Amino acid sequence: MSTPLKVALLGCGTVGTQVARLLADQSADLAARIGAPVSLAGIAVRRPNKHPDVPAALLTADAMALVASDVDLVVEVIGGIEPARTLLLAALRTGKSVVTANKALLAEHAAELFAAADESGADLYFEAAVAGAIPLLRPLRESLAGDRISRVMGIVNGTTNYILSAMDETGSGYAEALEEASRLGYAEADPTADVDGYDAASKAAILASLAFHTRVTAADVYREGISAVTAADIAAARTLGRTIKLLAICERNTGDNQESVTVRVHPAMIPRGHPLASVSGAFNAVFVEADAAGQLMFYGQGAGGAPTASAVLGDLVAVARNRVAGGRGPGESAYAALPVRPISMASTRYHVSLDVADRAGVLSTVASVFAMHDVSIAAVRQEGRGDEASLVIVTHSAPDAALRSTVDKIAGMPVVRDVVSVMRVEGEDL
Ligand code: NDP
Ligand code: HSE
Repeated sequence: MSTPLKVALLGCGTVGTQVARLLADQSADLAARIGAPVSLAGIAVRRPNKHPDVPAALLTADAMALVASDVDLVVEVIGGIEPARTLLLAALRTGKSVVTANKALLAEHAAELFAAADESGADLYFEAAVAGAIPLLRPLRESLAGDRISRVMGIVNGTTNYILSAMDETGSGYAEALEEASRLGYAEADPTADVDGYDAASKAAILASLAFHTRVTAADVYREGISAVTAADIAAARTLGRTIKLLAICERNTGDNQESVTVRVHPAMIPRGHPLASVSGAFNAVFVEADAAGQLMFYGQGAGGAPTASAVLGDLVAVARNRVAGGRGPGESAYAALPVRPISMASTRYHVSLDVADRAGVLSTVASVFAMHDVSIAAVRQEGRGDEASLVIVTHSAPDAALRSTVDKIAGMPVVRDVVSVMRVEGEDL
């Protein structure tokens, strides 16, 4: 057995508490797996007096002093950009390997963190940052490193999936479901990061960076959250045999003789028979499509203290093993440097629900606007309601910009009384 490895734990909230528990409960097994015992040197929190269950000798409010002490590994589960960025840069620059669950930080500052890790030869691991307990980043970084990934698509935010599932399955209200997701420890400290899609966008940036060997930041990701999804949208989707999920979609595009990448996060209607439709509660599921491997699906608990701590501990064992063996895990791989294109250039499908005047020629007038923008209609459903009609149009694939212009034009037509909802459609070839 080598000399003990000292670990600094930064943060002891939903995830940190479970990391500390697993470190204590499994210390003998961890030592055997790593080849050296692991000892918890200290736990940095914001308010030490709020942690009566943690031995006082371990607690400190001075996270920087803990990082600067003689620890070997730093585990960060504070969240947010600062002080996490400064703390992790300080750790990496002094050769201390880092394990973090902080997707917001990685989606903005991965390049800077990897550069600091490269300079000192430290490891930077972050499996828990995307999709909770699901081993997903290691397969992308290592197992699929010999393949060419074309698409990554899935549900990567537990809170919004919990809310949408509750609204769909039990008819629960949006606010009530969000409150429950927060109570269960799934939501971010500021849950607007979840419901407005920022959390999923950070995760999509991380996934796209790894899948396409290209630096993608949160700012490159098109983002729409679920706050505009209504009970009526969910009921309409149900009538059509569909359900609504918040999806993260990372695609490699090969048109125009130049490869590029588009990364987007938005609610989408998917058929109830689609495998993602049955992913409910705080579970996540991600499809990866690669040239040689074909289609792979990763599924499991996407949020919560214990599931996330499992991913953190897996990384901790990996970086500790590297340290004992005197080696290092993979660093940043951004050599492909593919251009990241806006969603306007992505190929999508729309479900458009309109209230229109119910008189002769209205359907053909509306249809002509789709034709004018070179958008092909896949299905139309009309239902009369007195002098008004509800008109639902589902399109074939078209550039998002063309679909957006079509909807903008239709919204200004005198025969269109209201654009009730516009939702992208995924997961079926119409
Ligand atoms: P919590 O809000 O529950 O915990 C945050 C912890 O950080 C608290 O212990 C807090 O201290 C401490 N903290 C906050 N600011 C500071 C500071 N300036 N210095 C030292 N400590 C500080 O967050 P979670 O555990 O839910 O999340 C932690 C990270 O894990 C985030 O990056 C999150 O995105 C990520 N994550 C979370 C998942 C989840 O399901 N919850 C799943 C996957 C990833 P105090 O307790 O004293 O306030
Ligand atoms: N708030 C995040 C979610 C935690 O709900 O998915 C897991 O990353």
